[in-house]
Amino acid sequence: MKYALTICLFLEQIFWHFIMKGKKQYRFAAIKEFENVLESPENMQGKWSTFFGNDNPIVLELACGKGEYTRNMAKAFPNKNFLGIDIKGNRIFVGAKEALAQEVNNVGFMRAQIQQLQDYFNPQEFEEIWITFPDPFLKDSKAKNRLTHSRFLKVYQALLPKNALIHLKTDSKPLFDFTQEMIELHHCVVHEKIDDIYLNGEPEFPLNIQTFYEKMHLEDKRTIQYISFRLPEKEIIIPPKKKKEVHE
Ligand SMILES: C[S@@+](CC[C@H](N)C(=O)[O-])C[C@H]1O[C@@H](n2cnc3c(N)ncnc32)[C@H](O)[C@@H]1O
Repeated sequence: MKYALTICLFLEQIFWHFIMKGKKQYRFAAIKEFENVLESPENMQGKWSTFFGNDNPIVLELACGKGEYTRNMAKAFPNKNFLGIDIKGNRIFVGAKEALAQEVNNVGFMRAQIQQLQDYFNPQEFEEIWITFPDPFLKDSKAKNRLTHSRFLKVYQALLPKNALIHLKTDSKPLFDFTQEMIELHHCVVHEKIDDIYLNGEPEFPLNIQTFYEKMHLEDKRTIQYISFRLPEKEIIIPPKKKKEVHE
């Protein structure tokens, strides 16, 4: 009886594995046909006005997942364009499909690695960045993958206009603290910092937009933090790696 149950659970796992794989494959194929999705496009620098069909300013949502910020801010600000960027095509599928269904035309998605932003944009081709619930990469050895690490700030600095805002919303206190260390290290200027956006009830738009991950974190009663800041004028220098301590 015990073995039969184990086998049933195992078969159920295999069943779900193949269902999910099929769903992902379907979504990957589908986004190739979506007119509002680009996948690691070549020669896009200087051509975003053609993609959006106008010269309006562009706001990026990095690590956009299903692109809730991209879609909701696009509806609220029709005179701006919003581009969600993520490497996961099956998540982008959800946001792009919804935007097409709702005929929100100032929305686009790009499947790409964020560290390669310079391959896709000329300097000052976008004007603001939102980073929503990025992976915190808690191990120190992975810190370089945090979207507010020096190496990412350097990429943003090369592309953003002077005084542009970068917004971060996260449930991860380690990532929030790390970001503040980066802000201090590089002499960035904090514009606004909120340690608990729900402390006094529902926050104002656009902080009240809830992403897929935010909803999960709220169910787990996690505190949601927000910070916005401007990069310094002085060039950001990536500090050398700390040498590992050798214990004799
Ligand atoms: C925890 S999810 C958050 C998704 C969404 N913002 C939300 O709140 O529901 C983090 C997302 O960041 C994306 N991501 C992390 N590092 C990335 C990178 N270097 N380039 C592109 N996407 C990245 C992952 O693919 C994932 O979808």
